[in-house]
Amino acid sequence: MNDQQKTERNLTGKIALVTGGTKGIGKAIAARLAAAGATVVVTARNQPDEAELPFHFIAADLSRPEDVIQVAEEIIAQFGGADILINNMGANTFPGGGFSTLNDEHWDQAFQVNLFSSVRLDRALLPQMLVRKNGVIIHISSTTGQFPIWESTIAYSSAKAALNAYSKALSDEVAPQGIRVITVSPGLNKTEAMSNFLNDLAKNAGISVAEMTQNLFNRVGGVPLGRMAEPEETAELVYFLVSPNASYITGTNYHIDGGNFPVVR
Ligand SMILES: NC(=O)c1ccc[n+]([C@@H]2O[C@H](COP(=O)([O-])OP(=O)(O)OC[C@H]3O[C@@H](n4cnc5c(N)ncnc54)[C@H](OP(=O)(O)O)[C@@H]3O)[C@@H](O)[C@H]2O)c1
Repeated sequence: MNDQQKTERNLTGKIALVTGGTKGIGKAIAARLAAAGATVVVTARNQPDEAELPFHFIAADLSRPEDVIQVAEEIIAQFGGADILINNMGANTFPGGGFSTLNDEHWDQAFQVNLFSSVRLDRALLPQMLVRKNGVIIHISSTTGQFPIWESTIAYSSAKAALNAYSKALSDEVAPQGIRVITVSPGLNKTEAMSNFLNDLAKNAGISVAEMTQNLFNRVGGVPLGRMAEPEETAELVYFLVSPNASYITGTNYHIDGGNFPVVR
């Protein structure tokens, strides 16, 4: 972030809710929106050290419908709703190894975490946005939603693909009423989730994490920029998309992947 960007406070007065805002990409987004002047509320299952987290915090497991309702009720009671909703929380914690390793419970959890959490939170917070005829919703998807890796992301990719379709449909529905809905598809980001993912794959394959990382780069067809993203780089795109500078952008799916995606979209 350069000095001019740091001082641009064009989200002042906005209430932003960032799910999964205590780690990785969500934490970087929360910090970026706060730097632009937004009042930021984050959710996660575990509360980090107060000193580490300069945002309002709501504890919730968003794979549970009752927790989504509780988050929405707290935001509405305390702030009257959200102007900016970042559906960032998502996870690929399901076994790799192809179709036969995934049972109904894995599939159900993949969709609860990566799709239904967003569907439910949008449904709870959109009514206030519609009354104000103003709001931005971001769905953090993944390039694997369009480029699944059968060895390790079948259920996760399927849920993200559904999220992409849902996000587009929602955008079409609410754009005429002043609400923008955008999908962001990150490639490989240096986060705790990515680190756990690589450690598990390396352990199962009996190779080092460095070798596994190179294998993953090769498996996705290479990353022309030659490295993973810092979460702050992904956050910068999200900040732009929710800012007034992006007022004509809705219904699109932005890839931020170091040039990895192998086809023209
Ligand atoms: N990292 C990548 O390379 C990458 C690539 C493409 C897409 N993405 C997407 O980017 C998003 C963020 O990923 P990340 O790598 O930053 O993840 P991360 O480092 O694991 O952080 C996940 C955040 O979500 C919270 N969380 C996890 N499960 C939750 C649940 N059931 N209910 C509520 N909060 C929950 C975590 O806190 P608690 O554990 O305390 O709940 C944490 O704050 C996800 O949607 C992911 O699919 C990531």
